[in-house]
Amino acid sequence: MREVYSCVRVIDHGLGAGNVLRDGFNGKAQELLRRIGLKRGQKVLDFGCGRGNYAIPAAQVVGDYGRVYALDKNHRALDELMRRAAARGLDNIVRMDTSGEVDIDLEDGSVQVVLLYDIFWYFRLHDPRLPRLLDEVFRVSTSDGFISIYPKHVDADRLLEMVLSQGYRMRGSCSGELLHDGNLERGRVYNFMLTNR
Ligand SMILES: C[S@@+](CC[C@H](N)C(=O)[O-])C[C@H]1O[C@@H](n2cnc3c(N)ncnc32)[C@H](O)[C@@H]1O
Repeated sequence: MREVYSCVRVIDHGLGAGNVLRDGFNGKAQELLRRIGLKRGQKVLDFGCGRGNYAIPAAQVVGDYGRVYALDKNHRALDELMRRAAARGLDNIVRMDTSGEVDIDLEDGSVQVVLLYDIFWYFRLHDPRLPRLLDEVFRVSTSDGFISIYPKHVDADRLLEMVLSQGYRMRGSCSGELLHDGNLERGRVYNFMLTNR
């Protein structure tokens, strides 16, 4: 049966407010990414991309004229991501190996979409690096861009409040089947636009 993703778009009134499984997930992930607003030709940063469960479908959605910056501190995960990308003939993924620093080696305003999917085990709410990460993501995003958050292992309400307090504005949310810890589960991603701060 075809999975139907339900999305809620916030009407802005200015108030601010296992490989087989992974491969099978790919089509669902492309659908989700299209629903959140990812388009052909866009540039995307997937911060903490892991083995590419979302970076690979993102690369398929943005196509040849788009680009996905796949950033992670886990070099073996990136090795696997690049193998999977090569097996699909994708050459629009830029590998970004880091040592876990929050600074992102991209120019100001260089990506339209940033994915922060299931990274909050590593960036806890009290961790001073989390607001710095949100600042960095703001810096590298275009003014008409948006960020998309999949809040796992974190108090989602408190995280979303923090994001709002950092100069972002709610754009909407999408629910559907998401891949988490190797299992498909029902989840929701939250999308935020940048404000003029
Ligand atoms: C649970 S995985 C999620 C992977 C992917 N986003 C997904 O949803 O399938 C979290 C990833 O964040 C990466 N990560 C954690 N802290 C990081 C940091 N400071 N810089 C870059 N990557 C980081 C980990 O190496 C891991 O690959």
